[in-house]
Amino acid sequence: MIGDLHRRLRAATATAHEGLERDLGWERRVATRAGYRDLLARFRGFHAAYEPAIGAGLADEAFFGPRRRLARLDADLAHLGLDPAGIAALPAPSAPRFDGSAALGALYVLEGSTLGGQVIGRRIAALHGFEARGLAYYRAHGPATGAMWSAFRARLETAADETALTEAAVATFEAMRVWLCGDGSIASRAA
Ligand code: HEM
Repeated sequence: MIGDLHRRLRAATATAHEGLERDLGWERRVATRAGYRDLLARFRGFHAAYEPAIGAGLADEAFFGPRRRLARLDADLAHLGLDPAGIAALPAPSAPRFDGSAALGALYVLEGSTLGGQVIGRRIAALHGFEARGLAYYRAHGPATGAMWSAFRARLETAADETALTEAAVATFEAMRVWLCGDGSIASRAA
């Protein structure tokens, strides 16, 4: 059952989700291997910046560790031909500092992306023939997606500061939209 805080958070971020979904243009971007690689390169920068900030704010590695996806991005990019130095040199945005509730709000955006990501992952698999290799980021929690999301929603309801949580979620959606929808290829510069 959806909790009250979650219901309010989903409503407060609905416009931001729509904006990201609209501007991302994922179907066009994943249509080619080069486009898919570039999209992953952008996600890589975002996760490289935001995961440490969220981890520091939550200070609960048992909860956050299984939700980190930076290593999955690195594995996918390696499978797509980037070498470790090129991956490490990919540009990243700067992330804010998050306290506990704000960290949970930022993580809401990253965890929620594993839901729609299941649809996108299936499309990428069908287009490019990837199974586990090359698709680790979008597979994310795979068959455990529902269970991971339920556990995350239960955690959401414990947030101490709903205003900070909501503001961080909206700001993270917007930061992600700006970062993912920037011009030009960044992976081809690193390859
Ligand atoms: C990186 C981009 C995206 C982010 C950060 C993101 C974020 C989120 C978040 C936070 C939720 C949870 C909403 C809730 O509280 O119930 C969600 C759900 C969902 N999103 Fe996205 N989303 C992204 C892109 C997309 C795209 C491109 C699609 C279209 C394929 C999509 C489809 C969905 C679907 C189907 C759900 C699940 C709704 C449900 O099961 O109740 N998302 N997303």
